[in-house]
Amino acid sequence: MIVPDNNVIVNEVEKLIEKYGSGRENLLPVLQDIQRKFGFISDFAMQEIAHKMNIHPVEVYGVVTFYSFLSTEPKGKYIIRLCKTISCDLAGKDAVANTLQRELGLKFGETSSDRKFTLEYCHCIGMCDQGPAMLINEQVYTKLTPSKVIEIIENLK
Ligand code: FES
Repeated sequence: MIVPDNNVIVNEVEKLIEKYGSGRENLLPVLQDIQRKFGFISDFAMQEIAHKMNIHPVEVYGVVTFYSFLSTEPKGKYIIRLCKTISCDLAGKDAVANTLQRELGLKFGETSSDRKFTLEYCHCIGMCDQGPAMLINEQVYTKLTPSKVIEIIENLK
């Protein structure tokens, strides 16, 4: 993922404000679209949004850091989120977590230097009876085992 030029951000923020309106109730949809388009919300983007929507930058920052699906850091092309909630935990989450870390050469919370993979934990994704479960971007994977994980990661590399 390429870090966007500031002019590109200025144009995109303008377009989104035209689309949604500049009222503060539209802050979240604007942020979500910026996240979707660039993969993260840079400091510059937060300042630009704050300026254009007439919201204090600290407030914008507060919203971005509150929601786990919004990020202030560039993330990988594939965002892998392993469920760490109790059913998945009891179903063997730790073995899956270790395999993911080993196969990707990453710890949880890290992004690979080529920005291909980000590894994170998440809370329950509603697949508790089919754990351990994880998401890769929007795709759900269930009944994970170390060997299944190796295969999935191999296919993405
Ligand atoms: S506990 Fe993992 S999906 Fe619900």
